[in-house]
Amino acid sequence: MLYGFSTPKHVKDAMIRAVLEDKNYYAESEGVRELREAIAERESAKGMHVMPEDVVVTNGVSEALDMVISSIAEPGDEVLVPGPCYPPYLSYARVRGVRPVEYATLEHEAWRIDMDDLKGKITSKTRAIFVINPNNPTGSILDEHTLKALVDTAAEHNLYLVCDEIYDRIVFDNFTSIGRYVRDTPVVILNGFSKVYLMTGWRLGYICFNSNARALDGLRASVGKLARLRLSANTPVQMAAIEALRGPQDHIYDMVSRLKERRDYVMKRLDAIHGVSMYVKPRGAFYIFPRIDASLGYRSDAEFVIDLLKSKNVLVVHGSGFGSMGSMHFRLVFLPSIEMLEDAMNRLEEFVHSSYK
Ligand SMILES: Cc1ncc(COP(=O)(O)O)c(C=O)c1O
Repeated sequence: MLYGFSTPKHVKDAMIRAVLEDKNYYAESEGVRELREAIAERESAKGMHVMPEDVVVTNGVSEALDMVISSIAEPGDEVLVPGPCYPPYLSYARVRGVRPVEYATLEHEAWRIDMDDLKGKITSKTRAIFVINPNNPTGSILDEHTLKALVDTAAEHNLYLVCDEIYDRIVFDNFTSIGRYVRDTPVVILNGFSKVYLMTGWRLGYICFNSNARALDGLRASVGKLARLRLSANTPVQMAAIEALRGPQDHIYDMVSRLKERRDYVMKRLDAIHGVSMYVKPRGAFYIFPRIDASLGYRSDAEFVIDLLKSKNVLVVHGSGFGSMGSMHFRLVFLPSIEMLEDAMNRLEEFVHSSYK
């Protein structure tokens, strides 16, 4: 168990049951039918029309992302990704010879997407817009106006719109899925069991295609081939995932209320540290992304992070690891207990104050 969070018992039991009942064979490549039905219901409830046939179960969102990027873009093509952004979006694109182009998000406006910047970066080589909502590393949630604008832009420019909603139920505010606004645009939602169901090591995720989008036919065929190529996702874990979706959901409420308390604690401490700045509270996920003020005299975020690690044994992630737009920031994870966070924040505070000397 990490930081007091553990996979719900009924989900663990379902996994054990599946193994003991010898459900240890390959599953259908697109995923176990009953799981695809449960996923289709979950995602349809968020707004997009999703049938079981529109779902492909994957070994985590990570595999989903690789399948989608390698299917939609050729070497030399471009995909638009949020700046800052969860790093595998950059890496999976580059591995396929595809150029990730970061669009700006506005820190002082709750990391709202700068739609003018995004539109200005669309070229003849652009194939897709990627969105992470809620976002890692900023914890931002997209507003409805932006969601509509994204769908309109994708439709106007014939682009795929791929939305990672892996933190959709780890939210401290209202969350709206892109699914509400998709109409017949080629929208793909990526999601998984790692975060909301505390199953990171079990490796299960999925891809959902907008049922009403004919423009997704080619992508569906390609993803289907890639799914067959790697035979199937883990069968006992798929059995457990059915239980995760159909069984009690109480752990989510408990997890979110504990995380909210931790977020508020970290925010309060950061507010009191002169030298790092937070303009908005994260509204989802479990990350916080403060700015390193110029007054501290650091030339790079990596230098700040290494100095902090060496002098205080506190590890945070340097912001430019999330793309160039994350520079002069760092990412803190507020999953640990308040006691552990208190110790880390005390050390951070001492470190920042000593940096002024
Ligand atoms: C935005 C985002 N997408 C995907 C993942 C990885 O998901 P999975 O464990 O399903 O591969 C993470 C993990 O941190 C994440 O933050």
